[in-house]
Amino acid sequence: MPSRKFLVDTDTASDDAVAMIMALRDPEVDVLAFTVVAGNVPLDQAVQNALYTVELCGDDTPVYVGAATPLLRDLGTAQDVHGDDGFGDIGLDLQGRTPADGWAPQVLVDTIRAHPGEITLVTLGPMTNIATALLWDPGIASLVDRCVVMGGTGLNGPGNVSPNAEFNFWVDPEAVRVVLRSGLPLEFVGWDISIASAVVTDERRAAIRAIDTPVAHFSLDIQSVLADYALAETKLEGPDFPDPIAMAHAIDPSAATAEKVAVDIAIGPDPMRGTMIVDQFGFQGSTPNVDVVTHYPSDHFFALLHERLATR
Ligand code: RIB
Ligand code: CA
Repeated sequence: MPSRKFLVDTDTASDDAVAMIMALRDPEVDVLAFTVVAGNVPLDQAVQNALYTVELCGDDTPVYVGAATPLLRDLGTAQDVHGDDGFGDIGLDLQGRTPADGWAPQVLVDTIRAHPGEITLVTLGPMTNIATALLWDPGIASLVDRCVVMGGTGLNGPGNVSPNAEFNFWVDPEAVRVVLRSGLPLEFVGWDISIASAVVTDERRAAIRAIDTPVAHFSLDIQSVLADYALAETKLEGPDFPDPIAMAHAIDPSAATAEKVAVDIAIGPDPMRGTMIVDQFGFQGSTPNVDVVTHYPSDHFFALLHERLATR
């Protein structure tokens, strides 16, 4: 019987799906729900992608519809990074599946209140659903065991959507500020960790391909657009896996190095929009509010990933 309860919020594109599979295939994790938010792709597509991924895993975890736009801004997607459909535009049948009845922020509130102190909340996209749930019921912040966030740029990493902003935080910075002020037990796994420890090089790709399970092949096949983008734009040796390494940290935090610091977020227009403001030395006297992961071993991450992709 799985001993751990996860809630996973996702803007389901090609790296999110791999993180979802890791959670669904972990013997100790019971994913109570996937809640979907617009980000990488528009909401309807993200919902269909999540449903497709759950079906591929032969699972029945419910998928709930959430926010179609950020709190106070128009949506900016990352279809140039993941493909128009978010899954590499390889022709998968990503339409016609039906989400569960219910609204994502309410499902977050109800589930956290039904399991006080037991939930690991993992966020893989813009934080709009989380912020909406917190604005509606601030008391849930003290009832969550852990909140593991794929977002930001660590203590001083580069941005991936502007010089210093990471995509999830750039899409909805107002939502991030609500979360930062909420009292949630926050652990940030930034894009700096992904580019340092989760790049799928040719060698890593061959090892995943050799696992030779349907989910292993799927996890590679849907990265076609991301791979081209990484090689051409972010100058990486292959597609990187930010959401999967954040999920690895959620599953096994023992391997991580982290530092608790005071974090705020820049709200204004580009180029500062969505930039993490890390008061590492306390100049502003702010209370440290986030455990920022500063290192996650690459071999450990890929071993965790392989174990779960190999499970049939
Ligand atoms: O910056 C990387 C993050 O933005 C990942 O979660 C990716 O899926 C996109 O949502
Ligand atoms: Ca994501």
